[in-house]
Amino acid sequence: AIGLAAPRVIGRAAAYSATELPARPAGAGPEGRTVEVAFDAAPYRGTLPAFGGVEADLWSFDRAQPFPPVIRLRIGDTLVARVRNRIPVGQEELTIHWHGIRLPNAEDGVPYLTQPPIAPGADYTYRFTPPDTGTYWFHTHCNTVESIGRGLVGILIVEGDETRPYDGDHLLVLKDWRIGPDGFLPFMTDEGAATSGTFGTVRAVNGVTNPEIAVAAGGDVRLRIVNVDPTRVPDIGVEGAEAAVIAVDGAGIPPFPLKSWRMGPAMRLDLVVRAPKPGEVARIVDYFAPQPVELARLVGTGPMLERGAFDPAPLVKPVIPEPNLADAVRLPFVFSATAAGRAAVDAVGDLPEGVPIGPLCLTERTFWAINKAPWPNKGHAVLPPPLAVLERGRSYVFELRNVTPRIHPIHIHGHTFRVVKSNDGPVVPHFADTVLVAPKERLEVAFVADNPGDWMFHCHIIEHQETGMMGYVKVA
Ligand code: C2O
Ligand code: CU
Repeated sequence: AIGLAAPRVIGRAAAYSATELPARPAGAGPEGRTVEVAFDAAPYRGTLPAFGGVEADLWSFDRAQPFPPVIRLRIGDTLVARVRNRIPVGQEELTIHWHGIRLPNAEDGVPYLTQPPIAPGADYTYRFTPPDTGTYWFHTHCNTVESIGRGLVGILIVEGDETRPYDGDHLLVLKDWRIGPDGFLPFMTDEGAATSGTFGTVRAVNGVTNPEIAVAAGGDVRLRIVNVDPTRVPDIGVEGAEAAVIAVDGAGIPPFPLKSWRMGPAMRLDLVVRAPKPGEVARIVDYFAPQPVELARLVGTGPMLERGAFDPAPLVKPVIPEPNLADAVRLPFVFSATAAGRAAVDAVGDLPEGVPIGPLCLTERTFWAINKAPWPNKGHAVLPPPLAVLERGRSYVFELRNVTPRIHPIHIHGHTFRVVKSNDGPVVPHFADTVLVAPKERLEVAFVADNPGDWMFHCHIIEHQETGMMGYVKVA
């Protein structure tokens, strides 16, 4: 049975021997292969185990792989990804955004801002060398609610961060699906967009509800948990096994015991878990729901490995530049609801998720704003001015203030934040490209604006993004 019902807070204790991360050994790595992938972004009629036999109109980057396709690189490799757009006419725009990768602006995959959208039938080639190891993912930045809803996502793993091999490497991709009796339900609703988003009807990991994952019994296994859901913010914990956090959003962190970790849309969490004995089970759970929900089971398999006291091997130290806090420029960003958004919230109230309500008859689809500026209020193609112009090479502290009643996972492109402090209590210092900002919270994140170009800065609850909570900063 699942243990405590109460959500548990993030904790950190120096319980393990690794308190510093070793540098990535020079020479080990950059072999500089070129890895080519050819994607056909295309629809298909099919089903996933979580759908309970229902067929739906899915979209995929690569039908040759099960959901989701995975690209594995080694650090130093260059990815050349050619994508052809075969998405049906009517939803035809396409790009690929490589979420969390600090890449050149032209490869960032944002329609109108960094490239024209890829026309139906056309193709486009992305080419970049990821500077960081870790767990990443990709998705289109066009029609994103629907495309993620139909499964058009992929995983990008950059190897070369391990200091000692683990006894397994398992990918757990969290994504709920909006499935009705005849296929997908509408992915976006005014009720959802104006509140916490439109939730899926079935929860799933790797397209399966509560899958059993065979892990090497007694071993120290690496779990790469990726939340590709456009909406849900689970609070991830492990029951029945010791578990340590080793990386957040791809970046290594000195291992610390997992109590629970809230994962907004787009966030990644790498854990090391001491796998159960042969035939025994540990559980990945979400504590954030009113009742804890079991998301996946880890089943100890094979001969029992004897690994001694649990002391997880650290990953290598990230190479992300450390911001200079003493000399940083502070910029406030206020995340707010627009008048239409507030009216919609009043009309909806705080109904539990899944309660059907009548249409809101909203004529204005802009519910949210950053520093009072909503985008896309007139469509993605009409670019507003940047939210801020940053001086290349300078350190910045972004003060993220949430004055709405909803939680927002705030994401910056092309850079990685250092999470510095919150008025909501102590934070674990760590790097992240997407950070959760709770209602009334003021969260400070810092980074070096070292990557020139126009970089999206938006909420990753995609319905919030699409109804105003998006903008961009210019690094010049
Ligand atoms: Cu995954 Cu602009 O984001
Ligand atoms: Cu949001």
